[in-house]
Amino acid sequence: MKNILCIGAGYVGGPTMAVIAKMCPDYEVNIVDINEDRIQRWQSDDLPIYEPGLKSIVRETLNKNLFFSTDIAGNIKKADIIFVSVNTPTKTFGIGAGKAADLQYWEKTARQILEYSDSDKIVVEKSTLPVRTAQAMERILNSGDEGIHFEVLSNPEFLAEGTAIKDLLNPDRVLIGGHGTETGRKAVAELVKIYTHWVDSERVLTANLWSSELSKLVANAFLAQRISSINSVSAICDATEADVSEVSRAIGMDSRIGKKFLQASVGFGGSCFKKDILNLVYLCDHYGLHDVANYWEQVVLMNQYQKTRFVARMIATMFNTVVDKRIAILGFAFKADTGDTRESPAIDICHQLLDEHACLTVSDPQALDNAKRDLADYQDLVTFEVDPYLATENSHALAILTEWEEYINLDYNRIYASMVKPAFIFDGRNILDHDQLFTIGFNVYPIGKPPLTHI
Ligand code: UDX
Ligand code: ADP
Repeated sequence: MKNILCIGAGYVGGPTMAVIAKMCPDYEVNIVDINEDRIQRWQSDDLPIYEPGLKSIVRETLNKNLFFSTDIAGNIKKADIIFVSVNTPTKTFGIGAGKAADLQYWEKTARQILEYSDSDKIVVEKSTLPVRTAQAMERILNSGDEGIHFEVLSNPEFLAEGTAIKDLLNPDRVLIGGHGTETGRKAVAELVKIYTHWVDSERVLTANLWSSELSKLVANAFLAQRISSINSVSAICDATEADVSEVSRAIGMDSRIGKKFLQASVGFGGSCFKKDILNLVYLCDHYGLHDVANYWEQVVLMNQYQKTRFVARMIATMFNTVVDKRIAILGFAFKADTGDTRESPAIDICHQLLDEHACLTVSDPQALDNAKRDLADYQDLVTFEVDPYLATENSHALAILTEWEEYINLDYNRIYASMVKPAFIFDGRNILDHDQLFTIGFNVYPIGKPPLTHI
């Protein structure tokens, strides 16, 4: 039985390995992490991350061919293939701070692999990394004198949170980058063999290492660019009484444009988009491509603008002051069906409202623990309430910041009755029935659509 190891039991490593274990019963899959608490939770009923469908797959495979452990050395020794899925956050210090990827966890892992290996290994980059990181990895791994051969591959993960299991089971494509040498081709074939247990072979693409690393950054940059583009259009709509949903529909039906990822919002969040674009920007600057760097940086700047624009509109609408006003924030996760709040637009929006001395009640079905941490600096001005009816009681306004389905079907008559009048709704995701809310009595402010107001 071939032995697979994944280093890093996070949002990427955990679900990816669980699916490989389920679909490849002829492989033993081990996952290690330095975080003991995380490893324990993976083995309990209280998984460290929330993903629809994940629990049942982990239950099905745990301790059969899926194992979690903190024994990094022992597992490196017995592995044939090592996936590296440690975090690569944006650097917060020194050269490239705020843009470049912080590769310290990555490099430590490479050195651990070198130290504990006593046989040939295939090492697979799963984390998103700057282009040519594999070269650095190879240099570290091949600095030993044990005569062990390490073949480095790039196999970026394209799963999105909230749909991780669906994406893993039925991916648009799997990308595997490797060297064109004999050992490189052999290693790529080993990895292709794993994925073709359940993915059609025409969806398993092979490429050279640098194209594979770059494709991941570019995929995220393109996706984020679409959101910033439609959000920029929402600002034009707000100025002209055009309706951004109508514009999205009209342009999305052009098959060259396509209809996905054209939903105007309070801005994109998540651990990848901003980080990966800034990583791309840094890379462009590094190669002297400053105009290209500026081009991509605009995607992030537009995202920031959209959040600030949303808050400015709330304040202007509520008679130019929100001091001491109670505002209910419905949704704190960066998108629905996840408890993850990394880079969530809700963080910036809440900070800006709190700086204006508003009193917030934050509600979210999955993300309140993270929200408490994200807003820890403002303890006195924020309360947290999982029940949306209690969260909105006595409030002057409510703002939808995450597109949770349950917010669509709330009893808005009941909510209206409990709110201070005039009652305002700011629908930052355009998910509610605006006409119905207006009929109930609300003053409704969608994104990129004319507001419906009684005042
Ligand atoms: C993204 C990529 O989709 C995935 O391929 C990559 O592997 C990791 O980064 P993720 O961050 O999980 O995945 O979420 P995604 O569904 O892409 O949404 C990102 C953000 O964009 C969310 O805040 C979402 O609400 C927002 N969004 C998305 C919009 O505002 N409008 C849209 O039309 C789509
Ligand atoms: P991602 O979203 O890329 O999966 P996460 O932050 O969710 O990122 O997960 C990365 C995981 O990698 C964390 O659980 C962290 O503890 C783990 N990790 C970081 N460095 C190491 C290391 N040297 N050895 C093992 N695990 C590590």
